[in-house]
Amino acid sequence: MRFSEYLAAQRQRIETELHGILPSEATPPEVLHQAMRYSVFAGGKRIRPLLCVEAARVISEEVAGIERAACAVELVHTYSLIHDDLPALDNDDFRRGRLTCHKVFGEAMAILAGDALLTLAFEVLANLPCVDSERRARMMGELAAAAGSCGGMIAGQVADLEGEGKPPEPGRLETIHRAKTGALIRASVRIGGIYAGADGEQLAALSSYGEHVGLAFQIVDDLLDVEATSETLGKTTGKDAARKKITFPAVYGIQRSHELAEAERRAARQALECFGNRAVRLAELADFIVYRRA
Ligand code: IPE
Ligand code: IPE
Ligand code: MG
Ligand code: MG
Ligand code: MG
Repeated sequence: MRFSEYLAAQRQRIETELHGILPSEATPPEVLHQAMRYSVFAGGKRIRPLLCVEAARVISEEVAGIERAACAVELVHTYSLIHDDLPALDNDDFRRGRLTCHKVFGEAMAILAGDALLTLAFEVLANLPCVDSERRARMMGELAAAAGSCGGMIAGQVADLEGEGKPPEPGRLETIHRAKTGALIRASVRIGGIYAGADGEQLAALSSYGEHVGLAFQIVDDLLDVEATSETLGKTTGKDAARKKITFPAVYGIQRSHELAEAERRAARQALECFGNRAVRLAELADFIVYRRA
């Protein structure tokens, strides 16, 4: 199967699973569930759940139910986007090709929709039907740490906000990016590995892959903010420079940033070598993350 066909088919499975997980719009409190569904079903690329599913498949052929675990990561990711767009953070009006959650539902409801998606993610992991309680607990620990305040996404968001207007230095840049985006992407592949019963060595290889694609992902996100149009991206471009964010293009320039993304792509592929042909899809996902135009 060609990668594009694989991508479409796999995304469809994730969408179906997400529809089953999210409370219906008719479930009280209706407006909150409408806001949650509005943001989740706005057409995200689903990169994190795809990474989770494929990491699991590298480890084992017996990964029934993995899509549900993968969706937990997407719920945390979507919550992070809703909050990232709030006026107090990046103050964005567009996301995933439509108005941001707070623009449609108001700030209070957007904050609460984010909160609800975050907690729902842990409920999903706690109730996974196909894995034992030890693995469920480990996956919950992974997700919590990656989303959290000690080197996780929240730490990165704090550093990102505090970095606005500060000199764009390489050290500060790496700290921000590894935490705000890298941690959740790394956790996506580790959660897949844990689900499938990876041993220590396998998990270390997956972690290395996750760290490299995670960094590559945010380098490209920074580049797209400069190089893409708002139409193709579905969010307003040029915002990073306007807010004096510490980004890869700000620190290294466009050309060097492309080279650094390419280096991370190669390093990610190299980390997969121990898995041989089993990791073809993960390798293709690394290419997709770096060569995407949106
Ligand atoms: C955007 O993530 C936010 C960052 C972490 C940089 P994605 O580019 O994966 O967004 P969606 O999920 O496809 O909308
Ligand atoms: C957001 O990074 C990272 C999150 C934790 C959501 P950005 O602020 O660069 O993401 P975009 O560009 O708004 O999607
Ligand atoms: Mg931000
Ligand atoms: Mg933002
Ligand atoms: Mg960005």
